[in-house]
Amino acid sequence: MSILDLARPEIRGLQAYSSARTEAAMAEVMLNANESAWPPAGVPMPLHGRSLNRYPDPQPRDLLARLAELYSVDESRILMGRGSDEAIDLLIRAFRRPGMDAIAIAPPTFGMYSVCAAIQGAKCIQVPLDRRFELDVDVLLEKLPASLKVVFLCSPNNPTGGLISHASIGRIATALHERALVIVDEAYIEFANAPSATVLLGRHENLGILRTLSKAWGLAGARVGCLLADSEVISLLRRIMPPYPLPTPSIVAALAALNAEGLELTRQRIGLVVSERERLAAALVRLPSVVEVLPSQANFLCVRFDDAARVQRSLQRDGVIVRDVGRHPRLEGYLRITVGSREENSRLLEALVRQEVSG
Ligand SMILES: Cc1ncc(COP(=O)(O)O)c(C=O)c1O
Repeated sequence: MSILDLARPEIRGLQAYSSARTEAAMAEVMLNANESAWPPAGVPMPLHGRSLNRYPDPQPRDLLARLAELYSVDESRILMGRGSDEAIDLLIRAFRRPGMDAIAIAPPTFGMYSVCAAIQGAKCIQVPLDRRFELDVDVLLEKLPASLKVVFLCSPNNPTGGLISHASIGRIATALHERALVIVDEAYIEFANAPSATVLLGRHENLGILRTLSKAWGLAGARVGCLLADSEVISLLRRIMPPYPLPTPSIVAALAALNAEGLELTRQRIGLVVSERERLAAALVRLPSVVEVLPSQANFLCVRFDDAARVQRSLQRDGVIVRDVGRHPRLEGYLRITVGSREENSRLLEALVRQEVSG
């Protein structure tokens, strides 16, 4: 059986759109894509040798090569898109038959999995994390029906911050072999004290990993993320992806962030975020208004306050915005606090201490 047998039959048989940029290489005279012959007014030209009046390479080779090196996977296993959000949507579209198949998630977790499922009319099976916000693999496997096509696991999990072990991921992928795709969302893995599950890719053809440049790499505004998966899955998704997913300025920004200097700076910043996360957590647990700080392997802390609404309002008055995650199951009373710069974190702590004194 091929992994593609799990995909929707009409997608497997789809004649993909063939774009001008994929049909022909760049040449001196480019008259094949109905582009303008002139660069746009007011834009400094060229952007690292790339002309904005030309459509970008759908999967730019230089960026693909950098990401393959960064993630230690073969280029054929990478699909680059507009953030990892795009891959979540593509996976559900390609693998779930309308009105028939389901996806599964382990709440409380990142909201886009269920939103993409709802948009596409897919049933979303929810297998909650246990009392300590960890995944119970036995319960998960028990609850998964035959109609399941994709399970999304988030590690470190947003918004609770916990990791899923490689042993658990391997067990789930083995149990769902020839049944469903297992997608591990590693948007925050750079901040974790554990390696990426990409090391498991060669062992499980139904495993996929989501990575993004939006978090540790500071490129949320550029919208660059990827799916790492079996090369057949990657080719299938490329067929349903719009022809030019990555804007040229985003490609240029990503290449700059991934050069030797960018790698070094990012490594330092990750170290800083991790040490600030620990400093923040230690300071927060000492505050009387804090009930619990969940252990986190990400660049945020999920914190339970005695009166989260009051804390959030008062922080806002002090110019500090944090996220209320109380709408998630079992997270009533919790706020998610992103770890910022040292100065930002100190400002947060000072505001919280002031509240304690005045409140
Ligand atoms: C767990 C998780 N996955 C994916 C994303 C989306 O990231 P991107 O910016 O790559 O679309 C986020 C964004 O917050 C996230 O928290």
